[in-house]
Amino acid sequence: MVKFFSPASIGNVGVGFDVLGLAISPIDGSFLGDSISIKASNKFQLINTGLFAHELPIDIKKNIVWKCWKHFCNMMGKKIPISIELEKNMPISSGLGSSACSIVSSTIAMKEFFNISLTQLELLIIMGKLEGEISGSIHYDNVAPCYLGGLQLIINEENNIHQSIPIFKEWIWIVAWPGIKLSTETSRSLLPLKYTKQVCIKHSQHLAGFIHATYTKQPNLAIQLMKDIIAEPYRIKIIPNFFNAKKILIELGALNCGISGSGPTLFAICNNMKSAKKIAQWLTKHYLQNQTGFVHICNVDILGTRKIG
Ligand code: HSE
Repeated sequence: MVKFFSPASIGNVGVGFDVLGLAISPIDGSFLGDSISIKASNKFQLINTGLFAHELPIDIKKNIVWKCWKHFCNMMGKKIPISIELEKNMPISSGLGSSACSIVSSTIAMKEFFNISLTQLELLIIMGKLEGEISGSIHYDNVAPCYLGGLQLIINEENNIHQSIPIFKEWIWIVAWPGIKLSTETSRSLLPLKYTKQVCIKHSQHLAGFIHATYTKQPNLAIQLMKDIIAEPYRIKIIPNFFNAKKILIELGALNCGISGSGPTLFAICNNMKSAKKIAQWLTKHYLQNQTGFVHICNVDILGTRKIG
């Protein structure tokens, strides 16, 4: 049997729409992500377990894990029956890279189980394609950090999809999922098809400056430049209480705050545990909309997808 775990991730990281992604892990040691176990079987079986298994499509062919298996069967030129267990512990359409968690853990587990030799680039291409099937567009800002850990810069050039970027170790990341869904497709449909030259220039300044600040170890500059002028202005209107929360979290000591991926999860950054706890408490009380929502205080997950069990 093989078993792999894939961590949650924050797509965009505020300043890098479709270009930056960060893998995260709760500091309390709990697992925020999905896992996949595969064992030999004489018939194909996909068992969904975990906190959010009930949200998965009833039609197995719509399950991304089935699509991943199909992809590997096509690649090998034959159908190999296996028994798969998907532990779906990530809420769907939450903005925390839930689909990437299932895609990456399945892809890596199948590669290992079928003992196929594939490069990191080839694996990423498979993951991007599967992500595209779910969200309607190929973007690597969740699958790359989920697979490789840390902060990833997506360059999406031929033979070169990503680069790892250093990130400030002292930063603590607080994520709050309000307990409601927002599909990436819907969230993307709110964005303009074109941006003005002025916005393009400003966005380049923010993103290039942010990357420069990470390499030159200037956390204050990085925070100052972590601005989202591409997605946030258009998405806040469908994320309840986001604008108000952002204002209050900054007052409570957050260095910055943004939409995680396509939302509705909010992320906040701070550099001390006292503020992190205050922020987490406020979010639990005021940002969550129901009992299923959650808040986690996280560090950067540097491992990415790993074998467990
Ligand atoms: N970067 C994409 C978006 C997906 O914001 O639409 C993020 O998970």
